[in-house]
Amino acid sequence: MQEKINGLLEELAKAFADVKTMQELNDLKVQYQGKKGIITELSAGIKDVPNEEKKEYGMHVNTLRVAFNDAYDKNKTRLEEELVNKKLKEETIDISLPSVKNMRGSKHPFNRIIEEVEDLFVSMGYDVVDGPELEDDEHCFRLLNYTVGHPARDAQDTFYIDEEYLLRTQTSSSQSRVMQANTEKSPIRVICPGKTYRRDDDATHSHQFGQVEGLVIDKNISLADLKGTLEIFAKKLLGEETKVRFRPSYFPFTSPSCEVDVTCFKCGGKGCPLCKKTGWIELLGAGMVHPNVLKMGGYDPDEFTGFAFGTGLDRLAMFKYAIPDIRYMYGNDIRFLRQFDRKDEEYEIKY
Ligand code: PHE
Repeated sequence: MQEKINGLLEELAKAFADVKTMQELNDLKVQYQGKKGIITELSAGIKDVPNEEKKEYGMHVNTLRVAFNDAYDKNKTRLEEELVNKKLKEETIDISLPSVKNMRGSKHPFNRIIEEVEDLFVSMGYDVVDGPELEDDEHCFRLLNYTVGHPARDAQDTFYIDEEYLLRTQTSSSQSRVMQANTEKSPIRVICPGKTYRRDDDATHSHQFGQVEGLVIDKNISLADLKGTLEIFAKKLLGEETKVRFRPSYFPFTSPSCEVDVTCFKCGGKGCPLCKKTGWIELLGAGMVHPNVLKMGGYDPDEFTGFAFGTGLDRLAMFKYAIPDIRYMYGNDIRFLRQFDRKDEEYEIKY
């Protein structure tokens, strides 16, 4: 019996030395401890052993069982560790690889200006209001005192959808909409930035451009309020040293009307090619809201007065960032757009 067991122990050691997978380990378990396994059958065989040999027989079988269990447990632990290590190795992320470079966008100069203008006016208590780009003749013209056939319409030819609908030529159309929408006829303080369209095409005029409209309606609003507001606007946007000048002008929906100029930011007002040697640059149109327009908007002109102004957003961006051609704004050229990835104070504008 001793010999038999020794032989079995040797076989067992060899069998375990060859085990490489869990499957093989499980097969060994069946081979030794399964229903018809070697150890199982040896244990069952004890009944045929004479009584006086039973004790020794049992001891031998037990030696084999302990040896098997021992080897089984050790190999199981070893295989499990191997499996975990293999997984860890396979799933490792190589952080030493250079990353894929992300292209970072930058804000379009047009949006930069809108945000700057909005921040300034919101800080003065204004609301920001949107209006439709596809407008009707009524809001773009008639409610603004441009009667049918009015000569001032000539300067504002645009893209017509049909007799009544057109692409708005000015954000002033928002004036009539804001007045109309304010059913309580309470005071108004709004700016309306957005896209506008005209039949234009040269270095300083594009068929698409942007404007921002300002409208204030309240009791006792005077030209002095308009002047103070526009002075703050010009200084904040173009520099504290900027001076403002008002010239008489004409718009059907304001009276009196004016054109507002600012001192040239290149020469400071001395005269240079940018300002055509005048020292001044035209910035915007403005005026006191015409009584007819107030009336058509549902406001009593004896009780309410107001001012309005409108300026080209592209123009502002072109001044501010020294952009020589308005068409760059709409060309989608990434070399142009990439130049606007800095903070305002980091620009050194050279004309
Ligand atoms: N809408 C006018 C234009 O485009 C500008 C303007 C706005 C004038 C508001 C007066 C008041 O020329």
